[in-house]
Amino acid sequence: MSSGNHVKPEKSPDESSADVIVRMFPSDANPAGNVFGGEILKHIDMVAGIVAQRHSQSNAVTVSMDRVNFIKPVYVGNVLKLNARINYVHNSSMEIEVKVEAEDIITGIRTITGTAFVTFVALDNGGKPSHVPKLLLKTNEDRIKFEEGKLRMQDRLKNRKKTNNLNRSV
Ligand SMILES: CC(C)(COP(=O)(O)OP(=O)(O)OC[C@H]1O[C@@H](n2cnc3c(N)ncnc32)[C@H](O)[C@@H]1OP(=O)(O)O)[C@@H](O)C(=O)NCCC(=O)NCCS
Repeated sequence: MSSGNHVKPEKSPDESSADVIVRMFPSDANPAGNVFGGEILKHIDMVAGIVAQRHSQSNAVTVSMDRVNFIKPVYVGNVLKLNARINYVHNSSMEIEVKVEAEDIITGIRTITGTAFVTFVALDNGGKPSHVPKLLLKTNEDRIKFEEGKLRMQDRLKNRKKTNNLNRSV
């Protein structure tokens, strides 16, 4: 694991948080006319990637998406606002939480339609995992989200062992 040429200063979740706004078009719809879940996943991955790269200031790749919940449908014409923040970091891995809100632009009604957790790993120029800045936990919310993120990451690592065995069995 590389740590770069200098010790990276701690950064708060606020410093890397991101909002992305995107309009849903007919080409984003499934055959039933609602927005296709995969289209929303793409935007979740993208906004989480912005946060991961802002925090690590390096290349970062998605290694896991989990607890993806589509709570309410998103309709063609809606304006989607995706908000992402970093909850937890270990050495090279980062847990990013994403909330998806859909706005009916005519009525102005806004609804939380989805949530997800995305894990990114920072990579150095050689494509190897590299250390990311530690999280500066300023608020109670930061501290609670960090501890909850740590528990989820432990869960992921247990699952990772199982999935790693998939490659050994083929
Ligand atoms: C990212 C990658 C280079 C890591 O390589 P690796 O050999 O697994 O490296 P390591 O085992 O040292 O793990 C590196 C970190 O990733 C974490 N990690 C790897 N897979 C993970 C998973 N499924 N869930 C959570 N964390 C994971 C490890 O816990 C470790 O975290 P830490 O450094 O904070 O302790 C490799 O998994 C990869 O290339 N994956 C594909 C990424 C990609 O292409 N994504 C785009 C979509 S296909």
